[in-house]
Amino acid sequence: MEKEIEVLVLIIGAGPAGLATSACLNRLNIPNIVVEREDCSASLWKRRSYDRLNLHLAKQFCQLPHMPFPPNTPTFVSKVGFISYLDGYATHFNISPRYNQSVKSAYFDGGQWTVEVENAETGSREVYSARFVVAATGENGHGVIPEIPGLVESFEGEYMHSSEYKNGEKFAGKNVLVVGSGNSGMEIAYDLSTWNAKVSIVVRSPVHVVTRGIVWIGMWLLKFFPVKLVDRWCVLLAELRFGSLSRYGLVRPKIGPFMNKIITGRSPTIDVGCVGEIKSGKIQVVPSIKRIEGKRVVFVDGRTRIVDSIVFATGYKSSISKWLQVDNGNLFSESGMPKSEFSDHWKGKNGLYSAGFGRQGLAGISRDAQNIARDIESLVCLRSMNKLSC
Ligand SMILES: Cc1cc2nc3c(=O)[nH]c(=O)nc-3n(C[C@H](O)[C@H](O)[C@H](O)COP(=O)(O)OP(=O)(O)OC[C@H]3O[C@@H](n4cnc5c(N)ncnc54)[C@H](O)[C@@H]3O)c2cc1C
Ligand SMILES: *[C@@H]1O[C@H](CO)[C@@H](O)[C@H](O)[C@H]1NC(C)=O
Repeated sequence: MEKEIEVLVLIIGAGPAGLATSACLNRLNIPNIVVEREDCSASLWKRRSYDRLNLHLAKQFCQLPHMPFPPNTPTFVSKVGFISYLDGYATHFNISPRYNQSVKSAYFDGGQWTVEVENAETGSREVYSARFVVAATGENGHGVIPEIPGLVESFEGEYMHSSEYKNGEKFAGKNVLVVGSGNSGMEIAYDLSTWNAKVSIVVRSPVHVVTRGIVWIGMWLLKFFPVKLVDRWCVLLAELRFGSLSRYGLVRPKIGPFMNKIITGRSPTIDVGCVGEIKSGKIQVVPSIKRIEGKRVVFVDGRTRIVDSIVFATGYKSSISKWLQVDNGNLFSESGMPKSEFSDHWKGKNGLYSAGFGRQGLAGISRDAQNIARDIESLVCLRSMNKLSC
């Protein structure tokens, strides 16, 4: 049996983006429902991140709209601190997401969105009908593991995506290969090393390694100076801090860290201790994997290594295309990210919005949420004006 539930705004996903959008709408008294496939909010932070994670950016860039962090919060908020902030945020703005509600499809027809939801616990189906839909399912919908010859067929060890990695306890004394030199990869490699695993890290392409202090200074300088200039200063600071890292296998991209983020969406990697371990030879840098045979990993330069476990910190993909089959609004491309020609990445057609797909982290999420709420408010008001009641 299917129930049909009518609501003005349906928000899909109870991560920071969904919560922020709901809060902004609640402040304007605009009715909305948040549906979430897991049985908690902020599941990426609660279930799919490693223990030692802290926010990479200073707190003023990570707070959600209309509720700053409490005054005694440290500049760099811990994972536990951020989770408790998010729980407090939901309570403060009276948001009660409907849990275990996994959206399976959404389409626009006859002036309304029809959204089919499966209850993850009971398997029963429900249908929502909404005037506006906010996709807030995240840029990190599901983890990506690259196809490597021999990995699935022959690897005799254990492998996992970084989203399944908690800490290095069970890897003590083991040979572990971490694939990827982004924030997750470098931090997990360091974590493993502190648990006395024998770690190698695959660094495939040039990477900007910086400190969170450098990013903090850079973001402040960006208020006054052009990106290119700030980039030059940040690279200088990073070189002063780390020296040249190319002889260890860490080569800087030609484009500066902030420009690179704008162009490619790739954030600079914030060192939390991995560089020191690389310099001391405790963690070894290796190039791309060519193939895997049993426990032997062969790299593109011909080196080989016997490996017990592999952690793939190879990024995420949006899972929009799994449920938004017919994107009548043309907001998203096949990759599940808003099309680049959309300057307003947060707004599609027919009342479809996206929150948290601007590649701008939590600061971008805050802007999206406020833009969406304001836009819906103006449309709702226009509609009721036509009925002469606004
Ligand atoms: C390890 C890690 C560290 C990070 N650190 C920072 C940082 O320091 N600073 C920063 O600004 N950003 C950081 N980020 C970026 C991160 O993406 C954001 O912080 C934030 O969590 C994104 O919020 P979101 O709400 O857009 O997506 P998510 O947090 O991913 O939330 C999306 C929610 O939607 C739900 N969902 C998905 N599909 C469906 C469906 N079909 N039906 C119903 N529900 C669904 C998911 O279960 C999830 O709860 C980090 C990301 C990772 C992975
Ligand atoms: C969600 O499902 C789990 C089991 O999968 C169950 O334990 C939990 O109570 C459910 N939560 C809600 C709010 O329905």
